[in-house]
Amino acid sequence: MTDTVTLTYGDHTYELPVIIGTEGEKAIDISRLRADTGFITLDTGYGNTGSCTSNITFMDGERGILRYRGIPVEQLAENSTFKETAYLLIHGRLPTQQELTEFSIMLNDHSLVHEDMKNFYQHFPSASHPMGILSAMVNALRSFYPALNNTAEELNMTVTRLLAKIRTMAAMSYKISRGHTTVYPRPDLAYCENFLNMMFDTPVKPYEIKKEVVRALEVFWILHADHEQNCSTSAVRMVGSARVNLYAAISSGIAALWGPLHGGANQAVVEMLKAIQADGGNYRRAIERAKDRSDPFRLMGFGHRVYKTYDPRAKIMKKMCDQLLPALKIEDPLLEIARELEEIARKDTYFIDHNLYPNIDFYSGIVLRAIGIPTNMFTVMFAIGRLPGWIAQWKESLEDPRWKVSRPRQIYLGPLTTDYTPIQER
Ligand code: CMC
Repeated sequence: MTDTVTLTYGDHTYELPVIIGTEGEKAIDISRLRADTGFITLDTGYGNTGSCTSNITFMDGERGILRYRGIPVEQLAENSTFKETAYLLIHGRLPTQQELTEFSIMLNDHSLVHEDMKNFYQHFPSASHPMGILSAMVNALRSFYPALNNTAEELNMTVTRLLAKIRTMAAMSYKISRGHTTVYPRPDLAYCENFLNMMFDTPVKPYEIKKEVVRALEVFWILHADHEQNCSTSAVRMVGSARVNLYAAISSGIAALWGPLHGGANQAVVEMLKAIQADGGNYRRAIERAKDRSDPFRLMGFGHRVYKTYDPRAKIMKKMCDQLLPALKIEDPLLEIARELEEIARKDTYFIDHNLYPNIDFYSGIVLRAIGIPTNMFTVMFAIGRLPGWIAQWKESLEDPRWKVSRPRQIYLGPLTTDYTPIQER
């Protein structure tokens, strides 16, 4: 294959370099296009635009492949823990036993949050969504823990601090929203166990940590840990490119994730399944509405910008529903509705022709319900899981020798120069 492509416009030809990734993905490097030709490229929604080169995550939407640092997500879900996967994403390789122990100690050492932060939590209006609170509080961390220099050691401290504190902050927001006493992290508990305990332990009923629940949470967070240049990760990279502090960049990622077309879909799926249940289990109406172009309704948890086949994470999540619910002796009517909805949708020519398959959010809400997570905390759970990916991507962009502040162009379609008219003449 040639290492350039030729662009012809009128009498002119231009050679543009070709970049080929390790998995054979091809890109045309257009970074000099405007300077050399006067053209920009137009790609609304960036469906066909590579914003960076990256060593972190590989996904192939046609073949349903997802790998972190080369390791298939299926293997990580089977064998790894969220903490180890976070280390893999952030540091680029699996840790040794000693590195993992040191990482655990650091996570425990930094898991408390400043007591003054509680005052902030207590003054959010009671109707606040936990994602709005989390985004604001992560940004506020900068005031409580002023940024350290970007030396490798200090960067590691900031990153670990954020990983350690986010689960405490998430659990705290839940407890405060219920008017309950907050539960402090315990040094004897591992990452996922600690989170569950902070969420559900109460002075009147100690929380019983079940191994099936801990494993389900580990897998849930592993599956959410990174997904290359999705909307929230691109937000983290774009905001981070202005060289804001890590907390501000992550806070913008949390805000982006909140949207129902992105991480907010897990909450939207459960709300949709409940609405179908309330409608007497009328799946057909939901399917017909999703197919109707004049109706903004979409089948939540279906479709993906990149996956044009079954999302590999959704396969694992679906299997987990089948195992976890019986193990916990839970019968969730929403699982039956979800299964039937999937079956009908996958036989429907609209969904077949549009390559619409369940994505991770279709079954993840049912897993979260079984764990006991309230619906409005679902996207917070996604955010905690995605944090290692955001950090890894932010760190990679910081270390990129070709770094530039993100600044897309546009094609202006507005009015030509127009004189100002005084208000009396309008
Ligand atoms: N239900 C019905 N029709 C759909 C759906 C859906 N869920 N998703 C896409 N379509 C149709 C869409 O109407 C369009 O049809 P046509 O070409 O006939 O006009 C076509 O498929 C392409 O849709 P698009 O919006 O151009 O595709 P996109 O790549 O921009 O959107 C998506 C991807 C995930 C936003 C979209 O599939 C969607 O809205 N899904 C529901 C929300 C959801 O589950 N989001 C979670 C995504 S996975 C978690 C994450 O990583 O964020």
